[in-house]
Amino acid sequence: MKKTLLFLSAFTFFLTACGGSSETTETTTTPTAAAKPAMEEGELLIVKSDCIGCHNKENKIIGPSYLDIAAKYPSNDENIALLAGKIIKGGKGVWGTIPMTPHTKITEDEAKAMASYILSLKK
Ligand code: HEC
Repeated sequence: MKKTLLFLSAFTFFLTACGGSSETTETTTTPTAAAKPAMEEGELLIVKSDCIGCHNKENKIIGPSYLDIAAKYPSNDENIALLAGKIIKGGKGVWGTIPMTPHTKITEDEAKAMASYILSLKK
């Protein structure tokens, strides 16, 4: 009987310890940081690619800003696929006369991650 009690109290202690520790991790990492990693996959791919030469998040350079693109296209599968295709094959005529160069080394998954990151910037 004594053993069962000891086991039970040890068990409850274990549970509380567990609950307590998961609570501390939640409070130390801010809710936004938990939901959004420092850099999303799409953003990371954009930073590593040549996009920056022609695009900026807020300002038009040679190509439209990501915020302008996000404002133009609602974030859905269709638009992500459309823009991913443009990133790979290049595009022209939508924003002006300057064309976007094709990026044939970028895979469809990477282009989709980039497109969904851009469209997620919509305010
Ligand atoms: C040589 C300059 C250049 C580079 C490099 C470039 N872009 Fe563009 N991008 C443009 C231009 C110019 C347009 C507008 C084309 C148009 O009017 O259809 C554009 C348009 C876009 C669009 C919108 C397409 C549409 O039809 O609305 C997206 C999304 C985009 N670029 C993403 C990217 C990404 C991601 C990269 C990096 C992999 C990248 N671009 C690299 C010049 C560039």
